[in-house]
Amino acid sequence: MKSDQIRETFLSFFEERGHRRAPSASLIPPPDDTSTLLTVAGMQPFKAYFLGRETPPADRLTSSQTCFRTPDIEEVGKTLRHLTFFEMLGNFSFGGYFKDEAIRFGWELSVDGLGLNPEEIWVTVFGGDEQLGLGPDEEAIAIWKEIGVPDERIVRLPRSENFWQAGPTDPCGPCSEMYLDRGLEFGGVDDRPGDDTDRFLEYWNHVFMTYDLGEDGSLTPLPSKNIDTGMGLERMAAILQGVPSVYQTDLFSPLIDLAEQMSGLKYDSTPEATRAMRIIADHSRGMSFLIAAGVVPSNEDRGYILRRVMRRAIQPVSYTHLRAHE
Ligand code: ALA
Repeated sequence: MKSDQIRETFLSFFEERGHRRAPSASLIPPPDDTSTLLTVAGMQPFKAYFLGRETPPADRLTSSQTCFRTPDIEEVGKTLRHLTFFEMLGNFSFGGYFKDEAIRFGWELSVDGLGLNPEEIWVTVFGGDEQLGLGPDEEAIAIWKEIGVPDERIVRLPRSENFWQAGPTDPCGPCSEMYLDRGLEFGGVDDRPGDDTDRFLEYWNHVFMTYDLGEDGSLTPLPSKNIDTGMGLERMAAILQGVPSVYQTDLFSPLIDLAEQMSGLKYDSTPEATRAMRIIADHSRGMSFLIAAGVVPSNEDRGYILRRVMRRAIQPVSYTHLRAHE
């Protein structure tokens, strides 16, 4: 399935279930949201709706949001899955449906809509946190079991993995992630979702957006219970196109082909060439979208991020002797 079809399948699945399609917002968050320099998730343009400060145009939305995340920038190129710039497909409910319907939608689209093998799907749930004063998410566990996911494929994880917040403050809540087991050729027998492994690929996160996180770390219940989900388009493309890495999907292969043509080297000729071409492909997409959003290179804030990805994309060309023609 081509990426365009995956995006359309997702958005129309949710449209058919009462969600209004929202356009992707800018990579630059609105001026009143200073929690992050760039848009990091599909929920970010909808924060005011979660907080009850504004009325959403509909109580169910779906979108494909362009996102940019910097924490993993050093991982880009080294792994099969890390990216800075990506598209996040999401469905959102503002005070409407909650855990039960969201989890069932996630399962139905994964299995019936996208054709994943139910036996290969694992899920993680929030295992509780003393500091937050919250116990394990028994409700989510019960729903997954009811759907038919066996207990051994329901993994309880701590706050660091399964409690989602966009930034240091603002709307947040326990979450439940869906993973695909890609088999032993990608990792070890004892690997589990949440481990640093390519065997279990996280493809969809469901956040049960329940609290507003204060600067002092306290949780205040939001005016209503909400749903925020995020599926990585690039990761789903890798799964459905049967390729090991996001870089071999139709979203990246034209850029990798161009790097091969211009360098005269093959993508898989050496680990350095693979790494350099992944960096070039990821960062050239990222820098194009940053520039399109109005960011200019500089030595501070967003401009610094742009300058950094430009430098990282240019640098490997010299240090890995990619210029085979010279
Ligand atoms: N906001 C959630 C995430 O980014 C869905 O994982």
